[in-house]
Amino acid sequence: MEVPRTVLLVLVLLALSSPSSHAHGRTHHRRRHKHRSIALPPEGDPLSPPPSPAGPPAARPPKAAPPSHHRRPPAGSPSSGNLFDVRSFGAAGDGETNDARAFELAWTAACDVDGGTLLVPREYSFTITSLIFAGPCRGGITFQVEGTLMPPDGPDEWPASNSRRQWLVFYRANGLTMRGGGMIDGRGEKWWNLPCKPHRGANGSTLPGPCDSPVALRFFESSNLTVEALEVRNSPQFHFRFDSCRHVIVDSVTITSPALSPNTDGIHVENSNSVGIYNSVISNGDDCVSIGAGSFNVEVYNVTCVSGHGISIGSLGKLNSKACVNNITVNKTTMRHSDNGVRIKTWQGGLGSVSGIVFENIHMDAVRNPIIIDQYYCLGRSCPNQTAAVHVSHISYNGIKGTYDTRSPPMHFGCSDAVPCTNITLTDVELLPAAGDVIVDPFCWSAYGGAQTLTIPPVSCLMEGLPRSILESDVEKCS
Ligand SMILES: *[C@@H]1O[C@H](CO)[C@@H](O)[C@H](O)[C@H]1NC(C)=O
Ligand SMILES: *[C@@H]1O[C@H](CO)[C@@H](O)[C@H](O)[C@H]1NC(C)=O
Ligand SMILES: *[C@@H]1O[C@H](CO)[C@@H](O)[C@H](O)[C@H]1NC(C)=O
Ligand SMILES: *[C@@H]1O[C@H](CO)[C@@H](O)[C@H](O)[C@H]1NC(C)=O
Ligand SMILES: *[C@@H]1O[C@H](CO)[C@@H](O)[C@H](O)[C@H]1NC(C)=O
Ligand SMILES: *[C@@H]1O[C@H](CO)[C@@H](O)[C@H](O)[C@H]1NC(C)=O
Ligand SMILES: *[C@@H]1O[C@H](CO)[C@@H](O)[C@H](O)[C@H]1NC(C)=O
Repeated sequence: MEVPRTVLLVLVLLALSSPSSHAHGRTHHRRRHKHRSIALPPEGDPLSPPPSPAGPPAARPPKAAPPSHHRRPPAGSPSSGNLFDVRSFGAAGDGETNDARAFELAWTAACDVDGGTLLVPREYSFTITSLIFAGPCRGGITFQVEGTLMPPDGPDEWPASNSRRQWLVFYRANGLTMRGGGMIDGRGEKWWNLPCKPHRGANGSTLPGPCDSPVALRFFESSNLTVEALEVRNSPQFHFRFDSCRHVIVDSVTITSPALSPNTDGIHVENSNSVGIYNSVISNGDDCVSIGAGSFNVEVYNVTCVSGHGISIGSLGKLNSKACVNNITVNKTTMRHSDNGVRIKTWQGGLGSVSGIVFENIHMDAVRNPIIIDQYYCLGRSCPNQTAAVHVSHISYNGIKGTYDTRSPPMHFGCSDAVPCTNITLTDVELLPAAGDVIVDPFCWSAYGGAQTLTIPPVSCLMEGLPRSILESDVEKCS
C-alpha cells in the first residue's frame, strides 16, 4: 500500500519537531542527519520515535576514539577506521540493558564512512528495542552480527512508544550486507501465546483483541542487499520481510521457529524484484517463503523447508486488489512434513495475473498438498464467490517427486470459475502416498493445461487448450 507523500511529510515534521529528551550528542546527530530520521509508516502504522536511552550508563558520543572491542577488522583495514563496534558506543551486551541507543550511534557512524561496518561482537548478547536503520549510507555498509541480538521479551516488555509491527527496520539501506554467523533471536513465544492468535482461546477458539506482532527483520525501499550466514529464530511474526526492494541476495541463512508458531513466515517478499534466496534451511510455523504482489524475477534455489506451510505465491488479490507476479523460479528444493509444497493462493475478486512460474526439482517428504493452486483462498468464515480473479497462467511443474500425506490430493488445481487457470504443465511428476497404498486422485477445477510426460498419479482432469472466457474477456493485464 502506498502512503501518500503528504502523510510522510507530516510524519517527518512531527518526528523532527518532537521535543528530544536525548543528550546533546543526540541532538547534534539529528541535525546532521535529518534525512535519516524519517519515520516511514508501514501500512498506516506510524513509526515509533526512537527509543529513549535505557538510562545510565550514558552512551558515549559517536566520534569516540577508535573502537576498542572489535575482534575482526576487515581485511585490508587494520586501522579499523571503518569498523564500529557497538560496545564502543556504550552497548552493554549483557542481554538485559537496552542497547538501542548505542546501535543507533554505531549505525550513524558506520553509515557516514565509505564501507563502514557495524560490529555486534561475538560472545555478547544485545537487547535492543525497535529501531530503524536508515540510509542511504555513504558507501556500502556491513552489519556484522557475530554475537546475539534480541528484542525485549514479549508484548509486556515492549515499549508503548515502539511500533508493535516491526522490530529492526532497514530503510533505504542501499548496499547493505548483513552477515557474521551470529544469532538473531526474536523471542516470539509470548507473542505467539497472545489470546488473539489462532486457537489460543478457550476450547480452541480465537479471541478478539490487539494482535499486532513485530516482524523481526524488515527491509524497506532498499537495493543491493545481501543477507548471508546468519541464524534467525523465534520471530514474533515474519522472520524476514523484503518490501519494495531490488537486487536482494539471501544466502546460507538458517531460520528456526516451532511448527505451531503462528504467522512466522520465514522470508516474505513483496513489491520486490531481482531477489535470490539460496542455500538456506527454514523450519517454522507458516510459509517457508512467501511471495506477494508486485514481485518479479525471484529465484529460490537449494532451500529446505521443514514443517510450516511450504513455499507460497500469495495470497494475492485480497479485497479486490490487483496483483502482478511474474518470472518466479523455485528450484532444487526439499519440503519436509509441511502442510503444502508449492502453492499459489489467490482470493476471489482480485485482478492482475500470476505467470511464468517454474517449480523444478522439488523433493517432497510427506507433504500434505505437494502441488496446489487455490483460487478460493479465504481466511475466516466464508468468502463469497466473485466474477473477477487473478489470472493464473504459464505455470510449470518439472521434476516434483516424493511422498504426500493422503489426507489431501497430491495435486490440487482449484481455479476460478470466471477466470480459469491456463497453461499448467507437468513434467516428471511422481508423487506416492507417504503411508499405505491408497492413491488419491488429483483434483482439478477450471484448470487448463496438461502433462508432458506420464505422471504418478496420472492427471486426466486438466482441460486442453484455452477456455473461451479467457479468449473473450479482457483479463486485466499486468504490463
Ligand atoms: C469450553 O468447553 C467446555 C466443555 O465443553 C464448556 O463447559 C465451556 O463453557 C467452554 N468454554 C468456552 C469459553 O466456550
Ligand atoms: C546497485 O548495484 C549496482 C551494481 O552492482 C549499481 O550499478 C547500482 O547503482 C546500485 N544501486 C544502488 C541504489 O546502490
Ligand atoms: C545447499 O544448501 C546447503 C545448506 O542448506 C549447503 O550445505 C549445500 O552445500 C548447498 N548445496 C549446494 C549445491 O550449493
Ligand atoms: C527471470 O528472473 C531471473 C532471476 O531470477 C533473471 O535472471 C531473468 O533474466 C528473468 N527473466 C526475464 C525474462 O526477465
Ligand atoms: C534448476 O537448477 C538446475 C541445476 O541444479 C539447472 O540446470 C536448471 O537450469 C535450473 N532450472 C531453472 C528453471 O532455472
Ligand atoms: C464457489 O465456487 C466453487 C466452484 O464453483 C464452489 O465449489 C463453491 O461452493 C462456491 N463457494 C461459494 C461460497 O459459493
Ligand atoms: C506455456 O507456458 C510455458 C512456460 O511455463 C511457455 O514456455 C509456453 O510458451 C506456454 N505455452 C503457451 C501456448 O502459451
